[in-house]
Amino acid sequence: MVKTLCCLIVLLAFSVLMTLNSSSRVIEAQTNGETIAIIDTGNVGSTLGKIWAANGHTIIYVSRAPQSERVQQLVSDIGNGATATTQAEAAAQGNIILIPIPPTAIPEVMSALGDLSGKLIIDPTNWWTFENDWATAPRDPRDSLAEQVQALAPNAVVVKAFNTMNFAVMVDPTISDGPVTAPIAGDNAAAKARVAALVEDVGLEPLDVGPLAAAEYLEEMLRLAIGFREINPGMAFDYHLRLRPN
Ligand SMILES: NC(=O)c1ccc[n+]([C@@H]2O[C@H](COP(=O)([O-])OP(=O)(O)OC[C@H]3O[C@@H](n4cnc5c(N)ncnc54)[C@H](OP(=O)(O)O)[C@@H]3O)[C@@H](O)[C@H]2O)c1
Repeated sequence: MVKTLCCLIVLLAFSVLMTLNSSSRVIEAQTNGETIAIIDTGNVGSTLGKIWAANGHTIIYVSRAPQSERVQQLVSDIGNGATATTQAEAAAQGNIILIPIPPTAIPEVMSALGDLSGKLIIDPTNWWTFENDWATAPRDPRDSLAEQVQALAPNAVVVKAFNTMNFAVMVDPTISDGPVTAPIAGDNAAAKARVAALVEDVGLEPLDVGPLAAAEYLEEMLRLAIGFREINPGMAFDYHLRLRPN
């Protein structure tokens, strides 16, 4: 009995150490820009990849069809050493993994990516459904997509960011009449600082709003903006959060 208990304690200590080790690796400083694997090449993925490549980061597009004409064209348009690879290779090649995918694809993509220990995952995903012309959560909003991603990759560090604005604002933040805030939520301060630097590359204002548990509010912020657009055709708003002493 005592022997079994000792074994259990050793195993527990080992797994805690492994978890600490993999999440501390995520905060290692990148000296020559980040190496960012971007899962797929949709609106958000292609936009952020272009901007980050132009800012000196190394971009790896991760596609189910990396040799397809569309993906190869994007890689060639971006230049700056951008490449394309398969989902299975993504974790080996990228320190940061951006997952701009439909929320329904999260379980399948996370499984295809394999072991993401020590990686920094940036989650910009959103999910909504319309009820009476208003955007609502298809499930309990307290169970945010970002926390779902974290549960699927427990040894990675997940940061929620880039989900609260339309990609057109990422393409050109000046279409908004003033600065635009990109709120960031996550449990690792160093990881959030790295994401904040990537937000600044895009010309947006980063704001650390708290732990990953705050992701539910960021996902609600987007639903509010989508609902507003739905009942005000032709109109949209962007978030600018201003700090003041309290
Ligand atoms: N659009 C925006 O303005 C905006 C802004 C902020 C956040 N977001 C969020 O970011 C995410 C992406 O939005 P988006 O507008 O960029 O979408 P999108 O243009 O439709 O691109 C989604 C990408 O995901 C890929 N994909 C679909 N199913 C997949 C699967 N099962 N496995 C792997 N890849 C899959 C698609 O690849 P294929 O083309 O091969 O199907 C496509 O490249 C969404 O969660 C969205 O809510 C969007």
